[in-house]
This record gives sequence, C-alpha cells and structure tokens, in this order.
Amino acid sequence: MADNRPIGVFDSGLGGLTVTKEIIKLLPNEDIVYFGDTGRVPYGTKGPETIKKYALDDEKFLLSKDVKLIVAACGTVSSVASDTAENLPVPFIEVISNSVLSAIKATKNKRIGVLATGATIKSGKHKSLILEKLPNATVIEVSGTLLVPIVEEGFIEDGNPILKEAVKIYTKKFKEENVDTIILGCTHFPLVCDAIKKEMGENVTLINMGETAAKATKEKLEELGILNPSGGKHKFYVSDKGATFEKTASVLLGENVDSSNVETVDINKI
Ligand code: DGL
Repeated sequence: MADNRPIGVFDSGLGGLTVTKEIIKLLPNEDIVYFGDTGRVPYGTKGPETIKKYALDDEKFLLSKDVKLIVAACGTVSSVASDTAENLPVPFIEVISNSVLSAIKATKNKRIGVLATGATIKSGKHKSLILEKLPNATVIEVSGTLLVPIVEEGFIEDGNPILKEAVKIYTKKFKEENVDTIILGCTHFPLVCDAIKKEMGENVTLINMGETAAKATKEKLEELGILNPSGGKHKFYVSDKGATFEKTASVLLGENVDSSNVETVDINKI
C-alpha cells in the first residue's frame, strides 16, 4: 500500500536540515514538510517545560499539513520532550535512541562520548539509554552549546580558528577519558565532524544522528507499507525568516534553499 502524504520533520530552527538531508538521501521519493521554529530557537538553553510546550506546537503544525509520520530532528526535543509524541495519531521518530544503538555497536572499549546542547546533556537521556543496554559502559557527556552559533555563522571551514578552539575545549574530556565513539547529539554537529576528527584522531567513530534517524524512518515506512513511490517534493516552513536565513539554511542543508519555497507561519496561532 502506498501513501503519498508527506513526512513531517521539525526542529528548533534550521539545524534539522542536516537530518532532512539524510532523509532525502535515503528516501528520495518522499515528500517532506519541514518546520523550523526559527522564531524561538535555541531550545538547547531552555528548560524542559518550555521545550515540551514548543514541541507540542511544532507537532500540531505538522499534523495540520496531513503528514503520515513525524521526525523530531532536534536533539534537544528528542531528549527532553519525546513524551509529547505519546498521543500522536501518526508514527514518531526521534534522533536519540537509534544513535545510541549505533554507538553501542561501534564502540570497542565501551567508552562513549556524547556531545550535545546543555538541555540535552542535563536530561541524561543518552547516558541512561546507553547504560540500559551496556551497563558496564563509561559515558562522558559534554555540553557543546557554543558550536551551534559557530556553525550558523558558517565558521566551518578547515582551520577556522574559532571553530578549532571551541572543538579543542569540547573534546578535551573525551581525549582524557579515551572515548572511541562520540555521539553527535545535536543537529549542527555533523558540519564540524572533520574538525572533531582532526582533534580526536581518525580512529574515533562519530555517530551522525541524522543518518541513524533516516534509516529508522525508512524502516518504519517499509514496516507499515506506507512508502511513497512517486513523490520527492520538499516544502519548508519557519516561524521567522531572520536576517541570515538563506545563508544558514544553505550551510545546514548543503544546497541552496529557494526562499520562494519557504513560508513563514505564526506558530502561536496554530
Ligand atoms: N536543534 C538543536 C538540537 O539538536 C540545536 C539548536 C538549539 O539549541 O535549539 O539540540
């Protein structure tokens, strides 16, 4: 049975485009509706109640677009507010649990690092999921919130001094603790994986939560028999276009975003 309704993807802002990129790669025939809450970003510095309230609004908006499945592309929402999806009428994919499974598979020395926003690290979600499956693992959690604006500024080229310094600071504990696998638990971090590898060495495995979530999305659509054989259209909604929208969106999606394909919505009126 085919289902031509779109997949809904949401994030606190434009970071979720890194996850969207992986979904497009794996599921080129799917229509996608993306919502980025750019008017209220960042979520990663806010408290759980606010993040939950925002996540409920975002999910409600996507449901109004008749989506067949919702992906919470945001690491912060996935770790703090997954329970907001409990009553959704459509399947829900978050970005934490599948990345944890990949990390468990990848680690040899059972020493796993987690790099994410402050809110995600405070939730302890990755750590508890890892320890549930691998009780004798050591989990090193580091809040790397500053990397979010660094990426959004486009400071991602090889050798950028600001990026280099931030990565050096954030990977210090991972090096000291000899982790062999790091979960990139925030939407923006795949864009700085080269800088992290350079600092940590080639032998460290970096887990891209966009890749693992895209795979889980594909599996879920296959399992339910609701793949779209003939789509491929992508529509973007944001709650604020901001001054640097085009630049930031293109950095995160890895291709130019046509702003005529982007609509601004008042998320408070959904
Ligand atoms: N999208 C967020 C995440 O993956 C990062 C940006 C924010 O703090 O809202 O955690």
